[in-house]
Amino acid sequence: MTDTARRPRPTRRSWAEPFRIKMVEKVPVTTREQREKAIREAGYNTFLLRSEDVYIDLLTDSGTSAMSDWQWAGMMLGDEAYAGSRNFYHLEEKVQQYYGYRYVVPTHQGRGAEHLISRILIKPGDVIPGNMYFTTTRLHQELAGGRFVDVIIPDAHEPQNEHPFKGNVDLAKLKSVIEEHGAKRIPYVSIAGTVNMAGGQPFSLENLRAVRELTNKHGIRIILDATRVVENAYFIQQREPGYEHRPVAAIVKEICSLTDGCTMSAKKDSLVNIGGFLALNEQDVYEEARNLVVVFEGLHTYGGMAGRDMEAVARGIEESMDDDHIRARVGQVYYLGNLLRDWGVPIVLPVGGHGVFLDAKAMLPHVEQEHYPAQALAAAIYVDSGVRSMERGTVSAGRKKETGEEYRPKLELVRLTIPRRVYTQAHMDVVAESVYFVHQERERIRGLKMVYEPRYLRFFQARFEPL
Ligand code: F0G
Repeated sequence: MTDTARRPRPTRRSWAEPFRIKMVEKVPVTTREQREKAIREAGYNTFLLRSEDVYIDLLTDSGTSAMSDWQWAGMMLGDEAYAGSRNFYHLEEKVQQYYGYRYVVPTHQGRGAEHLISRILIKPGDVIPGNMYFTTTRLHQELAGGRFVDVIIPDAHEPQNEHPFKGNVDLAKLKSVIEEHGAKRIPYVSIAGTVNMAGGQPFSLENLRAVRELTNKHGIRIILDATRVVENAYFIQQREPGYEHRPVAAIVKEICSLTDGCTMSAKKDSLVNIGGFLALNEQDVYEEARNLVVVFEGLHTYGGMAGRDMEAVARGIEESMDDDHIRARVGQVYYLGNLLRDWGVPIVLPVGGHGVFLDAKAMLPHVEQEHYPAQALAAAIYVDSGVRSMERGTVSAGRKKETGEEYRPKLELVRLTIPRRVYTQAHMDVVAESVYFVHQERERIRGLKMVYEPRYLRFFQARFEPL
């Protein structure tokens, strides 16, 4: 007899993914001994592991999606002309159709777009309020001379708080930032869909409308980080009264219509391995972006992407807006999250759109925050099962620009990020069981000390040693 567990008879009807698999990729299977060596050599940083040493890779959902046959077919139709590629015009058309902005500037990925918009709109001394920082977004704002100010609702910093829209802006806080600095010092408010660092938490349309009203009064722009806005729209459909019958695509369009432009990492929602864009409504800002893209990314009709990549993004945008797709995508994340919650593992609630976030502070109260509990937990999970996750805590937060002190974020998390259309439910079971057993033995996990610290975005390349 095989070791298939007996299951109780069904009491409900399940859903399944709206696709089937036609090509597979072998994944490496390793021993515990091999993994102990690999993590030591990687300086206890999962970013420095070789992918060949990883069994189930939940480092990120960025650029790790499986493309569809329709996207791969599009890759064969790449028009690799230096200028005026037909794939650019197709991409432009799809961005206009689904996101609704007038102008599109392609970039190699999200941070390329962040670089351009920060350089164009931010002057030294400016302040950029936003619904929690993201690493690359804040860095580009700072490199342009600006300062990010967090105006997300306080609920977002509490892992167990089940507010349905933890990505919302605290309007009173935003108002007071505007009063303190004056509208002239605020080039835009930065609003992200399903806030990554908060655990993949959405904002509501009601909140965004209120932000729009307030910023309109002061003539301040809203720039959307549209990277995971489709996931945000799905949560609005599921949770916000009045939207339960609206297609996700219509909700995305409504969100974008309340903003002045967006930066986009197509590596997430849009189901591609590389690509991004900046989209805008204002003609003069667009013209400046079109000038600058040539300097930093490539001509304004490719922006760092091959023609075939732009075709894959154009088709990926269309697929990403499909209600069945997004339900299955977020549904898989919920499957993993619900298992862990039911088994008593402390996770950020509600479960996010792109991953399950473990609360390392709650799990490892014996490890001081200055000894990087989330970093240590990610390393321990890898050693247990070869599942690769990512730290989203003190290491990711970095140092304050003014004083050089380390930030001590309230959220000290490990992110199990689910690539789109890549892993099966059995993979999720293996992941959940590994996390459960590591949780059972959590008292054995020791903290780390940082022995190498890069100057920018240190989490990518920092090295550690066990205490
Ligand atoms: N904005 C958000 C919300 C992101 O999550 C990312 C990337 C970016 C912008 C930057 O885009 O990587 O294409 O330059 N997030 C990845 C992650 C790296 O793992 O969460 P990019």
